[in-house]
Amino acid sequence: MNINALRPLDGVGKKLFVETYGCQMNVGDTEIVISILQQEGYRYTERIEEADVILINTCSVRDNAEQRIWGRLADLRRFRKAKPSLRVGIIGCMAERLKERLTEGRDAVEIVAGPDAYRDLPRLLREAESGGRGVNTLLSQEETYAEIAPVRLDRNGVSGFIAIMRGCNNYCSYCVVPYTRGIERSRDPETILGEARELLANGYREVTLLGQNVNSYRFGEVDFPELMRRVADISPLLRVRFATSHPKDISDRLLEVMAAKPNICRAIHLPAQSGSTSMLGRMNRKYTREWYLERVAAIRRYLPDCAVTTDLIAGFSGETDEEHRDTLSLMREVGYEFAYMFKYSERPGTFASKHLPDDVPDEVKAARLQEIIELQNELSLASNRRDVGREFEVLVEGTSRKRKEQLFGRNSQNKVIVFDASDDVKVGDYLRVRVTDCTPATLLGVRI
Ligand code: SAH
Ligand code: SF4
Ligand code: F3S
Repeated sequence: MNINALRPLDGVGKKLFVETYGCQMNVGDTEIVISILQQEGYRYTERIEEADVILINTCSVRDNAEQRIWGRLADLRRFRKAKPSLRVGIIGCMAERLKERLTEGRDAVEIVAGPDAYRDLPRLLREAESGGRGVNTLLSQEETYAEIAPVRLDRNGVSGFIAIMRGCNNYCSYCVVPYTRGIERSRDPETILGEARELLANGYREVTLLGQNVNSYRFGEVDFPELMRRVADISPLLRVRFATSHPKDISDRLLEVMAAKPNICRAIHLPAQSGSTSMLGRMNRKYTREWYLERVAAIRRYLPDCAVTTDLIAGFSGETDEEHRDTLSLMREVGYEFAYMFKYSERPGTFASKHLPDDVPDEVKAARLQEIIELQNELSLASNRRDVGREFEVLVEGTSRKRKEQLFGRNSQNKVIVFDASDDVKVGDYLRVRVTDCTPATLLGVRI
């Protein structure tokens, strides 16, 4: 018998609201947090006004991400005024980074929980309910929340995320993630396969395996290529994606498995960060420009129709004009389908904050970022234009936001394709579509 059954559940009659910032890992963690607190009797609400407990799942990756949260805490003052019994908590990466500092000052919160402390939330909430503060920012070497069934918040019911590993051991010199998320650990493959099968049974048609560095997944004998093979074998109807991969771990074996399984999507997110070998050295990325380009060539060899997307940072410590131009030329050489592009933001506690001064003036960073964005817009449009006239299999995800009589879905390359709706097509169907036109962000198509 469960010992918890002997005591009343603390959350009965109380409503929980959770707001999520940051990466997909945080989105997944929110689903785990809701699951844990529902066990405790809390009911999830999407209406913040009626909440008894508000949790904010936070991101620390850049300073502006943290500034947004401070602004949000100031917004919450009016809710606290209206309901003095309201309890507010900061969870996630910013909780880990700032710890007790969040319980001080005008916007002090009652609950602080780091990414590995979510099982302790019921106790932390009890502390908060009894007038104290609940703080737990211990990082763990084992926690993967492996057996907790996340409460799915994604609304389309077609495409779901499965966290397969947590943490990061790479220590890129600019990055705060290894400090906020702790060391790498992988989840038991059986629990991953179980979750994927359940999603399929519930009508889902796509899973994305998630981690800060998915391709360093390893659990006993099962490494990432083997895990991908097993997930892909569940059903040809289930598409499989993954994010994010570190270039150092994109192995030929993974590419072989992908090439052998048509339901593994032809899309690889391969963050380059910079196109300059000297810069990559300062970033502690563990590869050179040449090595990165060789991996892209390997992708093209195994998967000629694979989309390659990336992350880039403008204006990292000591960046020269030449290094910046190397990033632009790398972008042209690879011809990225899409990129996330950022201005470098120094993070306290990282190697760079201690040893590599943030010496590129803000105007220079901004100008370089602008050049990168403009070039990527050109590349994205060129890539979309190449698709005009081609046929793709599309998984239908929903109704177009702009025009109700249109549906949208994605092709294997993860590009959005919009096409006319008809009565016999529903969300979750696979369709063949021919692309007839495009914008910089979307492909327009017709059913065939
Ligand atoms: N684990 C993933 C990245 C997670 S963070 C990976 O390595 O691919 C997402 C992106 O944020 C990074 O790829 C990087 O481009 C960017 N980023 C990380 N730290 C940053 C910082 N201090 N300033 C600006 N961008 C940063
Ligand atoms: Fe950060 Fe590098 Fe780890 Fe990605 S691989 S999370 S950029 S330290
Ligand atoms: Fe942000 Fe933490 Fe994700 S710092 S990017 S929420 S791992």
